[in-house]
Amino acid sequence: MSTVFLNGEYMPKAEATISPDDRGFLLGDGLYEVTPFYEGVPFGLEGHAQRLMRGLCWLRIDFDTSGLEAMHRELIARNGLESAERSMVYMQITRGAAPRTHYFPEGQVTPTVYAYTKEWSRPSDDAWNRGFTARTVPDRRWSRVDIKTVCLLPNALAFQAAKDAGADDAILVRDGVAIEGAHQNFWGVFGSTVVTHPTTGHILPGITRAIVLEEARAAGMTVEERPIQIEELALADELFFTGTTGEVRPIREVDGRVVGEGCAGEITRQLSDLFLARVEQAKAAVRMGAS
Ligand code: PDD
Repeated sequence: MSTVFLNGEYMPKAEATISPDDRGFLLGDGLYEVTPFYEGVPFGLEGHAQRLMRGLCWLRIDFDTSGLEAMHRELIARNGLESAERSMVYMQITRGAAPRTHYFPEGQVTPTVYAYTKEWSRPSDDAWNRGFTARTVPDRRWSRVDIKTVCLLPNALAFQAAKDAGADDAILVRDGVAIEGAHQNFWGVFGSTVVTHPTTGHILPGITRAIVLEEARAAGMTVEERPIQIEELALADELFFTGTTGEVRPIREVDGRVVGEGCAGEITRQLSDLFLARVEQAKAAVRMGAS
């Protein structure tokens, strides 16, 4: 039985209950973060914390985030995941429970904080090398998806549509632009230029995206943050996704059309290696600090 965190307490998951008046449940009035841990070492924690704080500020949820890092570590420890190769903490903060109104509750309301942890795994090398398939689906989300709210229905419907069409994932298309995946950022490689959508209200500014951008630039690659038109998908040499539990994930086929060589491309592979090296550096830095 896993141990979860709810409103200041650790408890077995079966004992965690949330009010039916919770505004996260009734209105989707809340935020979430998914933070990866590698052998118990948090990765990109600062980025996740900053994105959360920006979201809290934008939603005007008054919440002190200072104890969250300790809570994440404690949850990993209590669930025996300190040596798990890959695990993550899902954390959700809602405005709290109050009689349903479309405007904010007038009195003082305590935000609800819920977190759980679980292991996840990287696909086999064979599957990764083969690459994954994607389907383009209309992006029906609102224009502030840079805020990581729990309002994920359009993402879930898009992913389901892709799955129903037999694809592994969705690419969301808005006004002729391949924006991002249902739960990952989207990238293209054209010749030797690496391209991804700029950080506007139409994409989630992924922490993995930021790290891969840093690594690509540091490796001297030409990088452009600009929209990728859907017509360009047929011209791309490589396409891939990035995200917390997907890391760098090659796309071999979009809407049944083969991308590049039809398997993980060279630059995708290089960026994946650079990303995994960053993870190793983070683990080594913690070990050095501990010794
Ligand atoms: N998804 N774009 C969307 C729409 C996402 O939901 C996510 C993350 C990303 C990648 O962001 P990051 O690199 O910070 O994980 C991009 C999380 C993991 C999820 O919903 O489970």
